[in-house]
Amino acid sequence: MNDDPGGNGRATGRIVVVTGGAQGIGRAIVDRFAAEGATVVIGDLTDPGNLFPESDAAGHREWTPLDVTNEISILEFAESVAAVHGGVDVLVNNAGVMDTRALADETVADWDLTMAVNLRGPFLMAKYLVPLMEGRSDPAIVNIGSIEGLGANTLHSSYAASKAGVHGLTRALAVELGPAGIRCNAVAPGWIDTELNRGYVDKHPNREQAVADLATLHPVGRIGEPADVAATVSWLANPDAGFVTGQVVTVDGGRMSRLPIPASLSDD
Ligand SMILES: NC(=O)c1ccc[n+]([C@@H]2O[C@H](COP(=O)([O-])OP(=O)(O)OC[C@H]3O[C@@H](n4cnc5c(N)ncnc54)[C@H](O)[C@@H]3O)[C@@H](O)[C@H]2O)c1
Repeated sequence: MNDDPGGNGRATGRIVVVTGGAQGIGRAIVDRFAAEGATVVIGDLTDPGNLFPESDAAGHREWTPLDVTNEISILEFAESVAAVHGGVDVLVNNAGVMDTRALADETVADWDLTMAVNLRGPFLMAKYLVPLMEGRSDPAIVNIGSIEGLGANTLHSSYAASKAGVHGLTRALAVELGPAGIRCNAVAPGWIDTELNRGYVDKHPNREQAVADLATLHPVGRIGEPADVAATVSWLANPDAGFVTGQVVTVDGGRMSRLPIPASLSDD
């Protein structure tokens, strides 16, 4: 487990925007950057509530309402950040939704909503926040993709397609924005314990058994925590990763690296 709170001050003075930062992976990213000394603007539909639960409070956290499916909302968010902070150093496109539906049941509206949050949102956020990165030192965009942009679970046509799109958008932005000094990378998390998939596990009669079974899919022997993703996002946004752009970094405990083998032939 990643227990490093990142309290090293390396993001001091940085203005960091995290979409979907009210809970889950986004909240861990917010807390990580704040612990590193950054000023973090959470852009989320919902109020994150208590912004200072820890004693560290090294950096600063604030919430500005944002709906990434709505271009006007994004425009107003960008104007607010520009007025209050004067610029942006790091944009983390994390807000996401997961639709679990059979092809026959998925409507155009279902498909469009997933795309609007997961893929059009990052595009529009980049469109309106990149101008705020002009003149900043080592600006960076980090998109949250998924291992479902690399493989797919059943009933996830829109989700998997949106995440593959996020990976493509990441490469395209890296190429387009590189000459302006802006790097763009993606993190592809594996199974991370958040509300997004907790319901899926909770519906099984024996939750502990379900979590233990999930752990066996991972060479490291456990599912992921939001802090595991936050640590990689922090690295990609830092000048330490200054020659890294256009990459999709998988954070999945080795799950995608393990080739399947029939139980009858397995030594495990
Ligand atoms: N949890 C996992 O196992 C996992 C795995 C791979 C990728 N991801 C990705 O990580 C990201 C975060 O997922 P999570 O598990 O923390 O999910 P979550 O459901 O716990 O949190 C998602 C956040 O996004 C916000 N949000 C949703 N729609 C929004 C909108 N239109 N505008 C602004 N904010 C909006 C929600 O209010 C919420 O705070 C998502 O992009 C998700 O696809 C998660």
